[in-house]
Amino acid sequence: MEWLEQLKATDPDTYEFMKKELGRQRDGLEMIPSENFTSLAVMQAMGSVLTNKYSEGYPGHRFYGGNEYIDEIEKLAVERAKKLFNVPYANVQPYSGSPANLAVYFAVCKPGETIMGLNLSDGGHLTHGFKASITGQVFRSVPYHVKKDGYIDFDEVRKLVAENKPKLIWVGYTAYPRAFPFREFGEIADSEGAYLAADISHISGLVVGGAHESPVPYAHIITTTTHKTLRGPRGAMIMVTGKGLGKDPELADKMDKIIIPGMQGGPHNHVTAGIAVALAEAAKPEFAAYAKQIVSNADALARSLVKNGITLVTGGTDTHLILIDLSPIGKGMGIFAQEALDAAGITANKNTVPNDPSNPFYPSGVRLGTPALTTRGMKEHEMEEIGKLIAEVIGEIKRYKMPENKDERQRYLADFRREIKENRNLQEVRKKVLELCGKFPLYSGFEF
Ligand SMILES: Cc1ncc(COP(=O)(O)O)c(C=O)c1O
Repeated sequence: MEWLEQLKATDPDTYEFMKKELGRQRDGLEMIPSENFTSLAVMQAMGSVLTNKYSEGYPGHRFYGGNEYIDEIEKLAVERAKKLFNVPYANVQPYSGSPANLAVYFAVCKPGETIMGLNLSDGGHLTHGFKASITGQVFRSVPYHVKKDGYIDFDEVRKLVAENKPKLIWVGYTAYPRAFPFREFGEIADSEGAYLAADISHISGLVVGGAHESPVPYAHIITTTTHKTLRGPRGAMIMVTGKGLGKDPELADKMDKIIIPGMQGGPHNHVTAGIAVALAEAAKPEFAAYAKQIVSNADALARSLVKNGITLVTGGTDTHLILIDLSPIGKGMGIFAQEALDAAGITANKNTVPNDPSNPFYPSGVRLGTPALTTRGMKEHEMEEIGKLIAEVIGEIKRYKMPENKDERQRYLADFRREIKENRNLQEVRKKVLELCGKFPLYSGFEF
């Protein structure tokens, strides 16, 4: 039986779009750093009977009957997470990264208390206190920043922490290409008795694979999504460290209670099973090799980009993530780069750069990452080639300039979109991208 035979018969419309999406993933270079390709095993756990079951509560303490197998699956996921991350407590029920972070706030802070996270346009996440996020409205958010060179400004962090005495500090980022400074933040948080939460959503796969330092000795709380470098399903986990339990022996209990009944209802059991499978995969030696390869690939890609004349925030990377600074060619050029890359079959996302001369709608950078390409089996040699291709694409947008006038922008962008569709050089890059993808098949043998 074909995998999606039933879906094809029941809902040909959804089926057709899913088939097209598989084709898009196969035929392009997926370089959004927060994305990855899960294994077929993870997908099978997700597309399963587990989605049928309600199980509010925790193993052994559910509000519904019939949870004997769900309990075992959740216990597997929790035990694997504890072992892999080396923590005494893990909760695998958060629906995704944003609710996991929200739960942390409500477990340790009261509304109106002060919190600190990296400013959004400097590489922080919305949920670390951005003003448009509920986290920046319910709590008093004091953002910290990076310096001109793109690295965290520790002088500012120390000053802000001493002045504002935050209850909670976030270390962990969404667009920061350098190692996350867990040790420094551990010392700073301890100096004022603040909770330190490490959001390792982006790098959790690197941490378990030994390709990035672990926050465990320094942070009280750790959150992570499970679908980025960890290569699991779309979900999240909250962990409490030994240091966290030392500060507050009830911290684990508070986390459990804030997830349910505080914020959520029934856990997504099919996702819990996917997390259990992904954690088993991440415990294998091959995964450590994978994590190290992600970082080597990002380094090789960064070097190739720089060699081909592209400016990078901080000049390179320590992780899976690279931030191209397009401000030398003009402000607000991220959208041009994203769409020209898209036309060439390279998927990336426009992003702000530190001290962006434009705004978050029309930012001046592009964020790239290597986790998905590394899953496909690509190595340094391919990264060298991809760096050249990206530089060629960026070369094609240099003659455009974002109009200052807002009304003019839409017309200008419409012309740009028409022109890139017909751009011969981009079509040539598209061909090379297709050739490269053909050499690294994705989900081979998995046919509709
Ligand atoms: C650092 C960080 N935290 C939290 C999140 C939120 O995760 P989700 O999109 O699953 O809500 C993200 C997602 O990009 C992230 O990068």
